[in-house]
Amino acid sequence: MVVYGLILAAGQGKRMFSSRPKVLHEIGGRAMVTWVRDALLEAGVDQVVAVISPRSPEVEAALGKPVLLAYQAQPLGTGHAALMALAALQPADAVLVVQGDTPLLLPATLRALVDRHRAARDAGTPAACTMLTTRMPDPTGYGRILRGPDGAVTGIVEQADCAPDQARITEVNPGIYLFDRPALEESLARLEPRNRQAEYYLTDVVGLMAAGGGAVATMDADPQEVLGINNRRQLAEAGLALQWRELERLMAGGVTVVDPASTYVHPGVQVGRDTVIWPGSYLLGQSKVGSGCTIGPGSYLLDATIGEGARILLSVVEQSTVEPECSVGPYSHLRPGTHLAAGVKVGNFAEIKGSYVGPGSKVPHHSYIGDADLGPGVNVGAGAVFVNYDGFRKHRSTVESGAFIGCNSNLVAPVTVGEQAYVACGSSVTEDVPPLALAIARERQRNIEGWVARRKGGRLLAPAPGDPQPPEERGLDPAK
Ligand code: UD1
Ligand code: MG
Repeated sequence: MVVYGLILAAGQGKRMFSSRPKVLHEIGGRAMVTWVRDALLEAGVDQVVAVISPRSPEVEAALGKPVLLAYQAQPLGTGHAALMALAALQPADAVLVVQGDTPLLLPATLRALVDRHRAARDAGTPAACTMLTTRMPDPTGYGRILRGPDGAVTGIVEQADCAPDQARITEVNPGIYLFDRPALEESLARLEPRNRQAEYYLTDVVGLMAAGGGAVATMDADPQEVLGINNRRQLAEAGLALQWRELERLMAGGVTVVDPASTYVHPGVQVGRDTVIWPGSYLLGQSKVGSGCTIGPGSYLLDATIGEGARILLSVVEQSTVEPECSVGPYSHLRPGTHLAAGVKVGNFAEIKGSYVGPGSKVPHHSYIGDADLGPGVNVGAGAVFVNYDGFRKHRSTVESGAFIGCNSNLVAPVTVGEQAYVACGSSVTEDVPPLALAIARERQRNIEGWVARRKGGRLLAPAPGDPQPPEERGLDPAK
């Protein structure tokens, strides 16, 4: 049985009150329609097709390569969208339709739906449609499932068209159906927009099939998994549900999440056992955190790789690698391309970019390291700046093993500080420093005795009222 997966994604999403197409609103860090696409691909359908609006090239871009596209110029309803897709498809045995706004759907559920449909077909009792249904305590907004006295589905009625007794039905239509292709084609051709919204409803196909003697089989779904996103409240609800799903995955693997309500984890993230995630932390993108780490409070990791036993406190780590037993923060920023070797200590208010910091090196406070390679055991003093940009181009610097960079010094790139060399504090180093040397690149200090007294002519040194010490007694001679 060849199965096409069909995503309906050409609607405007008026209830979002947004200038962006609804299916591009993000949950778990990416456009909701990409979740639906991935669920279909993982479920193993033979080809995924999406119906999109020709006015939304962003949706096309978000869907990417493995998806065929069909276009619906006017959003005339879900039935009309399905019709546009069929016109673009090769013959297939079955079409699995999903809505582009149902991102929590799991591949296993789709696989089970396909298996059910196939089994009935193989047993000689084929269904025209095998669909999911679910019960929602508050069914508002969803199409209600109508059943006859024998329990068989007779149709679906939309919220806008419900009679009062129908509105009380809690069994609803999640909008996920596996249709026999010829039966779908035949029913779509007969659709009419005779309803409150004057749209071609895909849901009417189910009624037409049932009326024509086709079997409509149903399968129970988890109501949360089939949550449809039509407005911002549902977007937040789905975001939280996805969040819980990911946190449960981490906790099941031995991670302590101190405050799930303030911890955000993307689905690609991996975290090792006995790592503790403190409140206000974000583990995003493809971040990988080893075991026994302490993350947060208040840390933000994006595509970060963190080794075992590391500690990231109130800091940001983006597209960077932190090897085992490092400590970062509070208030530091590792920008893309940073690599801290094992046991590095980065303290407060440090910014590091595009740099390698060798094992056991220390960058304790208030410094900027950009585009540099630091050997093992290097010490970077407070306020040191790697001056990597000359206004036109970036240059790299090297600090060899065991070197000591004094406080408030500038290393003007490209420059090399040799092994175990020292840079005196306050130096602006523009030339290479040989190994074991001390570089001093600043004005030598002079003390000018009596300068203050001369300058002020003694006048301002008159004792203030209540000052027990006149200037003479302080050893200043106003005459000098
Ligand atoms: C739809 C179902 C409803 C079901 C609910 C489940 C219909 C008529 N109603 O209602 O029974 O309970 O989903 O979430 O099918 N779309 C198009 N072209 C259009 C209109 C919509 O591609 O002309 C796409 C949208 O982008 C969206 C999906 O179809 O991804 C569903 O449209 P939406 O407007 O959200 O339908 P609901 O009112 O939620
Ligand atoms: Mg919807």
